[in-house]
Amino acid sequence: MKIELTEEQKLLQETVRRFADEVVRPRAKEIDETGEFPRSFFDQAGELGLAGVAMPEEYGGAGMDTISYCVVIEEISRACATSGVILSVNNSLVCDPLLKFGTEEQKQEFLTPLAAGRKLGCFALTEPGAGSDPAGLRTTARRDGDDYVLDGNKVFITNGTDADVALVFASVDMALKHKGITCFIVPADTPGYSHGTHEFKLGVNASGTTELAFENLRVPAKWRLGGEGDGFKVAMATLDGGRIGIAAQAIGIAQAAFEEALAYSQQREQFNQHLSDFQAIQFYLADMATELDAARLLTWKAAWTKENARRYTLEAAQAKLFASEMAQRVTNKALQIHGGYGYTKEYNVERYFRDARITEIYEGTSEIQKMVIADWVLNKA
Ligand code: CAA
Repeated sequence: MKIELTEEQKLLQETVRRFADEVVRPRAKEIDETGEFPRSFFDQAGELGLAGVAMPEEYGGAGMDTISYCVVIEEISRACATSGVILSVNNSLVCDPLLKFGTEEQKQEFLTPLAAGRKLGCFALTEPGAGSDPAGLRTTARRDGDDYVLDGNKVFITNGTDADVALVFASVDMALKHKGITCFIVPADTPGYSHGTHEFKLGVNASGTTELAFENLRVPAKWRLGGEGDGFKVAMATLDGGRIGIAAQAIGIAQAAFEEALAYSQQREQFNQHLSDFQAIQFYLADMATELDAARLLTWKAAWTKENARRYTLEAAQAKLFASEMAQRVTNKALQIHGGYGYTKEYNVERYFRDARITEIYEGTSEIQKMVIADWVLNKA
């Protein structure tokens, strides 16, 4: 066992950190305030191979591995959590299922431009009445000759305002419950496809979160991803990978908060000594550093398991659960170390605190991760 990045992964980390510090970080505060979707960031990330990090080069990707993917999402999120989730969704929730379940024609038509960053994707599963329980979704898909006709609504769709392609989950027969759910690849310029305006949120505010609506939308049967009725499993298997990306995002946010709290504690003086001279602050920093490392190790383990072609549902849920809750604790302590200044917009730490919160909610709440983990511990281990 060797718990160390390879030389190639270290080089990637340096390159992405430079890009994140020079290009991504300077816009992070502004897009958080305005909510403007950073499409130019996505285009530049695509040029660097970050839109499809672990996708094969023959399909437009960078041909790297899942740990490299975690490194990318962590480094981008360390600079800007919004940019991190935009990339994570395109990589894990869109490119990954296209690679795993797509036909050769689908890979040529959709995966290649998405992995190269020439197109942006979104993952349309959640509905007003189907969040933690996606088996209860109500978007319908009616077969009509060589097409399916889709009708329904989605909510909270990351990248939704700007996506060129959506993976849409709809039911061909509601009576079949989850076994009726089917996945479709839908170009956003298809007649009958529309999206709402950007949703203002507590954090990750510029990630293009919005509603999607499908009205009498015709999609050719050849753009069905997987078999009829396979959509629930496509969604669940995809979310296993997505949860690794969100764990990496949470680590990036927490890492940024930790670094700024560490620096602040060594410069700020009270009672004639630096904050870092107080044992209470030292213990905060010790806990933060330890939890960050633990989360990173769990996340790399999940990535390694995925890379080694094993089922990684358990590892991904554990990584996502721990990393997201760690990020909440670490950003909270970072804000505390900054005291009153941490509560102001002058410092980044209040943004990290807000950004971290969503990692405990999207791609399965902490409670859902515990359900998945308990199921494996009790029934599948
Ligand atoms: N991989 C493959 N198949 C899976 C699977 C997985 N990880 N998990 C379940 N399945 C299969 C089961 O084997 C079962 O198969 P059979 O029908 O052959 O028996 C089938 O799926 C149904 O499984 P369950 O009975 O366990 O399903 P359930 O309805 O009880 O749900 C759940 C399980 C884990 C709670 C699931 O509903 C879940 O993960 N909910 C959370 C949804 C979620 O994460 N949403 C996120 C939306 S996307 C997003 O957030 C993106 C963003 O903004 C960034």
